[in-house]
Amino acid sequence: TAPAAVIVAIDGPAGTGKSSTSKAVAAKLGLGYLDTGAQYRAITWWMLTNGIDVNDARAVADAAAKPVIVSGTDPAAPTIAVDGLDAAGPIRTQEVTSAVSAVSAVPEVRARITALQRSIAAEAPRGIVVEGRDIGITVLPDADLKVFLTASAEARAARRSGELKGKEATDLAATREALMKRDAADSSRKTSPLAKADDAVEVDTTDLTLDQVIECVVTLIEGAGAEK
Ligand code: DC
Repeated sequence: TAPAAVIVAIDGPAGTGKSSTSKAVAAKLGLGYLDTGAQYRAITWWMLTNGIDVNDARAVADAAAKPVIVSGTDPAAPTIAVDGLDAAGPIRTQEVTSAVSAVSAVPEVRARITALQRSIAAEAPRGIVVEGRDIGITVLPDADLKVFLTASAEARAARRSGELKGKEATDLAATREALMKRDAADSSRKTSPLAKADDAVEVDTTDLTLDQVIECVVTLIEGAGAEK
């Protein structure tokens, strides 16, 4: 008999290595990969390009069902499209990053994106690694393994400013401040805030290399599979 699909939830704040880790783990184990932050960024980009005031929760709620968001789950080449347009570039701009916390705090946005995430996970033939902020608690509470990645504020800001280098002018202090502001907003919102599930395994990545984090998560998944 074919092994059951394995569902892995990886949550944590920005700059902890969630995306790099999730992608690599999924590729190693032949699983799908879903970047849920990219979906919130995509709906935010759609709001901005369609003239919706992102600070008007009512207007954002009213428009939440309109954009067609499609995520490609191949970890070697993940994709994100909005209304048929490739959104991979535009969702990483400073404009979207600054607006995404406000948009993703709107309950109608979360309900819509959560439903999308659950259907993508249910359709993954061999299973999937889903990364985000509320996956273990809200989106996939029955995941086979839940991981919560953390890192010191300094390490997170350094990683993020390294990622941005060359793309947009940035300095470490500004990156750190923007990151802290976004985490505070994501952790304090009413609907599905960023939080660690009681049954999640916490991994502090501050002093670990990416390869060490990947190995740690792969070992945890193999252990979780053996328990079943
Ligand atoms: O992972 P990221 O930095 O690309 O996520 C962008 C934003 O999307 C993040 O600041 C909060 C929101 N988000 C969310 O509310 N819930 C998730 N599961 C994933 C992201």
